[in-house]
Amino acid sequence: MHGKIVLCITGASGVLYGYRLLQVLTSMSFEIDLVVSSSGWVVLKQELDITKGDLLKEFPQVNFISEKDISSPIASGSRLVRYKGVVIAPCSMSTLAHIANGTNQNLIHRVGEVALKERVPILLLLREAPYSLVHLENMLKVARAGAVVMPASPGFYHKPKEMQELIDFVVGKALDCLRIEHGLYKRWKESDGVDT
Ligand SMILES: Cc1cc2nc3c(=O)[nH]c(=O)nc-3n(C[C@H](O)[C@H](O)[C@H](O)COP(=O)(O)O)c2cc1C
Repeated sequence: MHGKIVLCITGASGVLYGYRLLQVLTSMSFEIDLVVSSSGWVVLKQELDITKGDLLKEFPQVNFISEKDISSPIASGSRLVRYKGVVIAPCSMSTLAHIANGTNQNLIHRVGEVALKERVPILLLLREAPYSLVHLENMLKVARAGAVVMPASPGFYHKPKEMQELIDFVVGKALDCLRIEHGLYKRWKESDGVDT
């Protein structure tokens, strides 16, 4: 095992990012605690036609935790400090607002709050367009509190030809933030995994 990561999927568009992270991290033998918000399940069905049953079946090694399970170990700082990090992908503007303002309504918000207070690395992969002033102010708040704020916007300098390359670029950048080595995208001036 490489270590533990909390992965949260909320009800923003782009649940593919969370799904791909799940595939990649489990293939790398990370121990994953997965929390999906109720809206996250709606968008998983809408965008990927994936149900909770499908996900449980595909990833039997993953520890699924209900967003309502506020007494879960990961709701406690004493347990979360043992994790490599928390990734919320995609992160809705609603979840961003709750974490930015400390108004916990579910386990994802609580994990966000605990990660910030314990200085556990936390990445919010945001998806909304355009951003309102409220969104921007909330981003600033969480960034000042120590979170990494990342837009779900891929680069194009590697000349992607397929959608999978765009997704892997964003997922690769998320892994970079957690300092996890990967080969999901070609780095600037890198050829075949070798720096030039
Ligand atoms: C198909 C669909 C797409 C959505 N896309 C977004 C989005 O990109 N960004 C966002 O902030 N909210 C989006 N929403 C709205 C959120 O799901 C809604 O604000 C919800 O309350 C978020 O709750 P959660 O953060 O607990 O998952 C979308 C909803 C649906 C049904």
